[in-house]
Amino acid sequence: MIDYLRDIRLRPVWRPMPAEIKQAFAQTDLPVKGQSPWQTYNEVHSLVLPYSLGNDHPHFWGYVPGAGSSIGALAEFITGTMNTMSWGGHQSSIYMERQVLSWFKTLMGFPNDDTCSGILVSGTSVATIIALAVARKRFHNRNMKIYYSMDTHSCLIRAAELLNIEKHNLIAVPVNQQHQIDLKALKDAIDPCSCGFIVGTAGTTGTGAIDDLQGLADLCGSRSQELWLHIDGALGAVACCSSRLKPLFAGLERADSLAFDLHKWLSVPYECGCILIRDGHLHKSTFVHHIGSYLTLMDGGLTPITGELFFSDYGLELSRNMKSLKVWMTLKTYGFKQLGHIMEQNVDQAMHFANLIKQHPNDLDTISKPCFTIFMIYLLAHFQASDRQHRYSFEVVNNEYVDKNGNLINDRIPRLKNFFKRRINSYTYTIDVVKAQQLHIPQQLGQQYQDNTNNNGQYQYDNNYYPGR
Ligand SMILES: Cc1ncc(COP(=O)(O)O)c(C=O)c1O
Repeated sequence: MIDYLRDIRLRPVWRPMPAEIKQAFAQTDLPVKGQSPWQTYNEVHSLVLPYSLGNDHPHFWGYVPGAGSSIGALAEFITGTMNTMSWGGHQSSIYMERQVLSWFKTLMGFPNDDTCSGILVSGTSVATIIALAVARKRFHNRNMKIYYSMDTHSCLIRAAELLNIEKHNLIAVPVNQQHQIDLKALKDAIDPCSCGFIVGTAGTTGTGAIDDLQGLADLCGSRSQELWLHIDGALGAVACCSSRLKPLFAGLERADSLAFDLHKWLSVPYECGCILIRDGHLHKSTFVHHIGSYLTLMDGGLTPITGELFFSDYGLELSRNMKSLKVWMTLKTYGFKQLGHIMEQNVDQAMHFANLIKQHPNDLDTISKPCFTIFMIYLLAHFQASDRQHRYSFEVVNNEYVDKNGNLINDRIPRLKNFFKRRINSYTYTIDVVKAQQLHIPQQLGQQYQDNTNNNGQYQYDNNYYPGR
């Protein structure tokens, strides 16, 4: 696996899975008789490793997944070896999770004490379920409506459906020209007779827009007994690492609940997200569940009754793996400052690319202003095309854009992670770039990094920017 990490750039970003490999997975015979670990490991090498999503590759520009890091991979190995069960008690994983959560409380401007709670989860989808469940507990026996912008991530609707919140209580609010929730429309939509769960997003999946979080906090503060402010910071909240980017999130620290991912921009390996809840007592009372004699705790030893934190009282799971180590090792190794620096660089790269696109107004346009690392590009020539032609055009473009090894554009372009946003007329494409190649945009981008290219034409990665790669 060390070779795998070392050679990451020598491999294609993504390669199609041959029919025989798919066939091998379709084989349903039970492995009744065991085989040697080497044989099993060799199968991993031939069946699994070559056909990953590719998001660990520096040239993977599609969608929004994070790349992980080598220190995170090491943490996963240690975690698996320890195989600890992180439900609670006197054990290192609990103390470590508490420490990591206290770092995030500080980073996000939440109270760094026991009045405020949190838990590491698999991602923002689960974090959203937790936040919604806690808010519903607070508004117990009262009608609660959920208000969210049309650009809000679909995990909110899924959470609402799971919690049996009826459709007529889900109120989608339009967005303004910056793709932020329209505050005036929101104010007009709020039902004065009901409680409300107001959702703001710090970096939407579609355009990277950050809602006016200060405006949302003011609105919720004006009726704090009836309105709960939840912020979905899956994508963007960790940019608070950067003192330059942090002001974009002013107001985030006033939320009642904040969900965010560590497996995206923070480079922690999948899966890892976090939920912070301002009212820790309410959080615990929503999930604590001591039914069953096997859960009765003895005071002393591993399982004290008082004074310690049992994470199973704050989320959906009793048996939980140790997520804190990969977060802890990532933060200790790279530090918030350097991680913030990488994010700043990603943003600069996106801005630079958007500027290059502006130089080709007849062929390309950005649908949304670049915000963070995401923006949508539109191939103007196809504006009038029918849906079918449209789809065909983009397939052609995608094919043009990927060389026969699956590599994107230009080898000299460094890690422009999370750079392109897909989503053109709601079609999903593997890679969502448009004709930039023919327009020599890559060459221009490459030019910017020429100084970092060695005599063999290989890009020299600056280790200050790309830790562990
Ligand atoms: C803004 C936003 N919210 C929520 C989610 C869901 O997060 P997860 O996939 O970590 O559950 C995503 C995922 O891309 C997202 O972009």
